[in-house]
Amino acid sequence: MLVRLNKFIAESGITSRRKAEELILQGRISVNNEIVNELSFKINPDADDVLVDGERIKPRRYVYYLLNKPSGFVSTTNDEKNRATVTDLIKTNEKIFPVGRLDYNTTGVLLLTNDGNFSNLLTHPKNQIPRVYEVHLDRLLNDDDKTSLLRGVYIEGEKGVFSRIDFPKIKDRKRVIITCTEGRNRFVKKMFAALGYTVTSLNRISFAGILADVPPGKYRKLDISEIKNLIKKYAE
Ligand code: URA
Repeated sequence: MLVRLNKFIAESGITSRRKAEELILQGRISVNNEIVNELSFKINPDADDVLVDGERIKPRRYVYYLLNKPSGFVSTTNDEKNRATVTDLIKTNEKIFPVGRLDYNTTGVLLLTNDGNFSNLLTHPKNQIPRVYEVHLDRLLNDDDKTSLLRGVYIEGEKGVFSRIDFPKIKDRKRVIITCTEGRNRFVKKMFAALGYTVTSLNRISFAGILADVPPGKYRKLDISEIKNLIKKYAE
């Protein structure tokens, strides 16, 4: 696939689109050993050799991981209290960051990437990304409260709602599987707290349909088909 030279340079991460144009106009870019100073020039990133001031520009490599987050890690790239972070668990030289957050003690599906557009897509409220959590409560969830959570309760002045609530074991109403499409900070805990329940453990079973299919603390790369499906589903 051909891409515009200025777009290719900017996406490689070395500079902005505007500065890339300047580099082209200043005659500092060569393609296959020929100086190019045409802004509309297109290249094939897989075949053409693009140099700035004689140095090869490597196309940016986007990476996408699924981590089954264990308890005891923060979902940031570095922590002011020096606690272990989720990025410590993944071996890569790319600058990855988590797509949204899970609390320090929350476990389960967390995606990480270095692709900001992909992350925005999966965290933007308008996309209503489904999240499924297994929740342990300090007491039995009664029917009235179940109904309230499905109709919506106010947390910090804004209504929140669970789209589905199931009891995996009919007789154990302290254990609940909930589905929601909100990513507000500590959303699940706050929803239950609004009705006087304490969440004693929280595990994200799936995010955007991606399941935690690796053991806790382990990770895998997303398949190209998973990435494409997510982009197709939410980018249009
Ligand atoms: N809701 C919470 O309360 N905590 C999480 O980690 C995720 C969702």
